[in-house]
Amino acid sequence: MTHSDGVPMPLSLSADGPLAGAVTVPGDKSISHRSLMLGALAVGETIITGLLQGEDVLATAAAMRAMGADIVRGEDGRWHVHGVGVGGLLQPLVALDMGNSGTSTRLLMGLVASHPITATFIGDASLSRRPMGRVIDPLGQMGANITASPGGRLPLMMTGACPAVPLRYVLPVASAQVKSAVLLAGLNTPGDTVVVEPVPTRDHSERMLAGFGAHLTVEAAPEGRIITVRGEAQLRPQTLTVPGDPSSAAFPMVAALVVPGSDIRISNVGLNPTRAGLIDVLRAMGADITLHDLRDVGGEPVADLHVRHAPLTGIEVPPEMVPSMVDEFPILFVAAAFAQGRTIMRGLEELRVKESDRIAAMASGLSAIGVMTQELADGMIITGTGGEAIAGGATVPAHLDHRIAMSLAIAGLHARAPVIVDDARPIATSFPGFVAMMERLGARRQGPAAVH
Ligand code: S3P
Repeated sequence: MTHSDGVPMPLSLSADGPLAGAVTVPGDKSISHRSLMLGALAVGETIITGLLQGEDVLATAAAMRAMGADIVRGEDGRWHVHGVGVGGLLQPLVALDMGNSGTSTRLLMGLVASHPITATFIGDASLSRRPMGRVIDPLGQMGANITASPGGRLPLMMTGACPAVPLRYVLPVASAQVKSAVLLAGLNTPGDTVVVEPVPTRDHSERMLAGFGAHLTVEAAPEGRIITVRGEAQLRPQTLTVPGDPSSAAFPMVAALVVPGSDIRISNVGLNPTRAGLIDVLRAMGADITLHDLRDVGGEPVADLHVRHAPLTGIEVPPEMVPSMVDEFPILFVAAAFAQGRTIMRGLEELRVKESDRIAAMASGLSAIGVMTQELADGMIITGTGGEAIAGGATVPAHLDHRIAMSLAIAGLHARAPVIVDDARPIATSFPGFVAMMERLGARRQGPAAVH
């Protein structure tokens, strides 16, 4: 059962006073997906600590099981994966249900593309609206045969090519999912598969492929990063620790910045530079965020964060920072709603094809609760309150999008009347325990009178 089954679950949060305390956030979603996929392709046992047990990652686990991997969660919470080896994926006997997860879909399409199997991919209403042409194009060039629904969408069926044809692919969109799909397809392809990335995106696939023993090189060239993976790879099983997800930490971080008097700590947060743009932007707006005990966990930089309420000032966010914080714009819009003056954010066209059209969803959600927003084709301009509470007093739709649901719920923490998110169930895709964590910091879940 996923969040799109059953009845909607409204959510409204409030804060009677400052947020305080120390919390952790669940494991990184991107790293969790890749841990399961690469573990399932290694021969032997991969052990994963800190795996995100959100619906998106569970969809990846179920799909890898359907293709032959043995994946179990131990009683101690660690996950054990026995892989089938590169080239060893089996024909799935049922359609692969990707739920809400674009990452599962696009990366697994990459894996299927170079195996001699046929797989059908299905997903929920949100995922079935999202473009898959961006992976269909390169994987088709490698020899996979793909029949998609109109517009290059799910449901789709694909048959992998074996042997697949190695490709040199220049990414036409700044997308880690597309990059990863091609690199994963390259694992079981003879010769070298090359991805040229003009604009850098999150590099977990490169770090983890190298960690699992693939021959992978990254070269900085005038045309961008050139990533080469040598095919017919043999992956060695690993013992991994997944750091806390910076994209999840963004929600309590902004909550503490906007609720007056707050002072919180968030421990074990991944700070890979290809992911950590939000912290730089919030600091440029005046945020009080300090990093403690910067360390390495499983090949990723990690730190504990100390966040204190601070007056924020609107800025113009440099568009070149977008890939390093692409999932954080909904919650940055909330920070901007409480800043002094205008925050100008452009270069966000990719936000229109996430779990929802995040520019439209946040522009209408925020304006319904009294925030001054100006929607642009590729971004948003928000004029903030200078720290005052917003009006609130409306029910706002989450559009089947976990990050919209969490962002609007956080906006309601400093509002004169309740902000009611119509359906909080999508939060379980990436952040099970979000409400409990906010309650530990002192937020209150409003009773049924507020939410009905
Ligand atoms: C992800 C890449 C990003 C991001 C998504 C996770 C990944 O998508 O939005 O949440 O794990 O590779 P794009 O590659 O489409 O930008």
